[in-house]
Amino acid sequence: KDASMLSKPPMGWNSWNSYGCHTSKLTETTIHQVAEVLVSTGLRDIGYRYVNLDDCWGAVHGARNKSAPLQGDPVRFPSGMKALGDYLHERGMLYGIYSDCGTRTCQGYAGSMGSEALDVKTFADWGVDYLKLDGCWASTKDMKALYTHWSELLRGVREERGGRGIVFSCSWPAYAIDPQKPEHFNFTYVSQICDLWRIYGDISGHWSSVMAIADWWAEHQDVLVPIAGPDSFNDPDMLEVGNGLTKEEGQTQMAIWSILAAPLILGHDPLTMTSDTLEVVSNPEVVAVDQDPAVDQGRRVQSYSHNGTRTYDVWVRRLAGGDVAVALVNVGSETLAVSQLRWSEIGLTPGDSYRARDLWRRIDIGHFNETIPSDSIPGIPPHGAFFIRLIPTEPPTSPQPPRPS
Ligand code: DGJ
Repeated sequence: KDASMLSKPPMGWNSWNSYGCHTSKLTETTIHQVAEVLVSTGLRDIGYRYVNLDDCWGAVHGARNKSAPLQGDPVRFPSGMKALGDYLHERGMLYGIYSDCGTRTCQGYAGSMGSEALDVKTFADWGVDYLKLDGCWASTKDMKALYTHWSELLRGVREERGGRGIVFSCSWPAYAIDPQKPEHFNFTYVSQICDLWRIYGDISGHWSSVMAIADWWAEHQDVLVPIAGPDSFNDPDMLEVGNGLTKEEGQTQMAIWSILAAPLILGHDPLTMTSDTLEVVSNPEVVAVDQDPAVDQGRRVQSYSHNGTRTYDVWVRRLAGGDVAVALVNVGSETLAVSQLRWSEIGLTPGDSYRARDLWRRIDIGHFNETIPSDSIPGIPPHGAFFIRLIPTEPPTSPQPPRPS
């Protein structure tokens, strides 16, 4: 990979979902406070290290002078953008910024088209560690050339810095794919030039939005799974835990995103974070599924219905060392009693024994070798997830269990 040295999905926080363009929220003072909260609550040490500014940080709204360096809005960021990076770095955080490969950002601020080399130099001078490059105000037919050019410039930063480059988060596929036929898009090429890439539309803090993304991901998993790997991450967009979802819905988003080896970029306002939100996003066993070193993106393996109404979905991810993560997601609006979870439903070999650990309750629920019976599966609340890790307790009977399909 040219630009960065990521080996696991990036983790951090991004301003967009909770602060947007709000003039009293997207400010130096607030971003400082966000960083302090990420440190004091332990979120930084769990891995949420990137603090990413999204759209609206710039000084110029509309067209820019292409040969003048970008500057931060002097009202929002009176100390300047390099000082913000220094502030984050001094606290052990990493610095993310946003630009657009077109002439303007989606919110109408100056874009980078025609100033790419200058902007990369500016970001490098500010100590930026992560760049989200959006795709408004650009033609999709130009995006291959534009994103390729950026990746070459970012490779230059890595070479200059002698290793640590700028993570390249690309929005190109989100603009350029046909959502009905994503297989027509050259994801292999995207994975060669980008570290992570947005694919689907923007998430919002509603269950329907989270489910629309999860369903689309499942429908197209044969295209998406093969392109993910230790330095390449499909990006289903940011977390909405604590930003409109119920606690159970937040747990479900965390469970599915972890199974998808997705970037874990918090989208809530850390300054008003509840203890429930903190508990959900900082569950170390759930984060460990997301950050599993095998980076083998999981799949939805079952989607059950009753009388034509969807009831629950089953998601599975293979982890390093033969462990398996499984999420049963209640997509209905009643508490769900699941009769059992059979190995045959999740691609495991009957007879292989596993210790099962409930990741939300953080307790072992027993040893099983063919099925987990109903009395070991708690009732799953509406939109909630029963999320477990199966740990082999003896060598599996077949050396290479079949992958779930
Ligand atoms: C579109 C992106 O998909 C969002 O995540 C956000 O960056 C907005 N643009 C900002 O304008």
